[in-house]
Amino acid sequence: MGKKVGILTGGGDCPGLNSVIRAAVWKGITEHGFEMIGILEGWKGLLENLTANLTVEDVSPLWNQGGTILKTSRTNPYKMQDGADKCLNNFSKLGLHALIAIGGDDTLSVAHKLFQAKLNIVGVPKTIDNDVPATDYTFGFDTAVNIATEALDRCHTTAASHKRVLVVELMGRHAGWITLHAGIAGGADLIIVPEKPFDIEEVCNRLIKLKESGKDHALVAVAEGAKLAVKEDKDGTFVLKNLERDPFGHVKLGGIAKVLADEIEGRTGMETRSVSLGHIQRGGNPTAFDRVLGTRFGLAAIDLIARKDFGKITALRGNEIVAVELEKAVGSTKTIPDNMMPLTEFFAPQLTKEKG
Ligand code: F6P
Repeated sequence: MGKKVGILTGGGDCPGLNSVIRAAVWKGITEHGFEMIGILEGWKGLLENLTANLTVEDVSPLWNQGGTILKTSRTNPYKMQDGADKCLNNFSKLGLHALIAIGGDDTLSVAHKLFQAKLNIVGVPKTIDNDVPATDYTFGFDTAVNIATEALDRCHTTAASHKRVLVVELMGRHAGWITLHAGIAGGADLIIVPEKPFDIEEVCNRLIKLKESGKDHALVAVAEGAKLAVKEDKDGTFVLKNLERDPFGHVKLGGIAKVLADEIEGRTGMETRSVSLGHIQRGGNPTAFDRVLGTRFGLAAIDLIARKDFGKITALRGNEIVAVELEKAVGSTKTIPDNMMPLTEFFAPQLTKEKG
């Protein structure tokens, strides 16, 4: 028997996770002679010893499957009594040589702490939000953008038939990448992202301007984490599903499209509807791009383990897969940089600036 290597998926699922698992397990067994085991349900599996043996036959059919065969959870061992110690003990009880943790900022921050506690860990960045700082792209993002773009395309025709405004809410937490990309690709008239708090009056004025220019319908793409500008608070304010926080302290966003649609209709008299795409953006089969990126990450991750190059994540820089220190991938959010923000405005009706 070769050395035992574990693999887990944590946080929100995304299309492409199974591509990573397939590639890492396949190469781990066939080229490096590792014994590969799945740790189920993210960090919960390491806390509770939930595991499954993985063979090439198990992973071979996964080339196009969305979701994760390993299941996932938002379990945070560092928020549980003796959680970290349990992870360390179970790691050795299971006889693990090393572990691949596939996840976003939350999962990778746990991986980083466990690496500092001397576990042999490598990470693979994933998320539809594309907000992990160390990599140009995460897999899952391309699929989400394509789903969102198709939804926007569909909204155009119904909005046009009814001469309505349609407000479409997209995921991405505190980063507007999905909304920016899908908004451009899907021909949105207004693109509203969390990176810049928005003024409701300005949104309405732009829609009125659009109508006056002869367009009888409009599409607004808004990120779930977009913030309403409030005079006294320069950071703006979120719309929340409820006040609950998840185990990593994140607020539960959702509902901005409905709030915005009601305001637009009330203030402009334009008939307005809202749509929230929600988890549809995370479901189904990955695009070819995400399958390939996931596969390249999986192969690179298992090679890092073979080289005992622990404490790193795989990352895409240009078209190269590189290894980056875990600490550079955690603790911050990659948002839309200032030099890309004009893209959110380019196709929007421009308001004449008041002089003086
Ligand atoms: O991080 C991915 C993501 O889909 C975010 O875009 C979204 O805010 C969040 O997860 C939703 O989380 P959950 O699936 O736990 O509701």
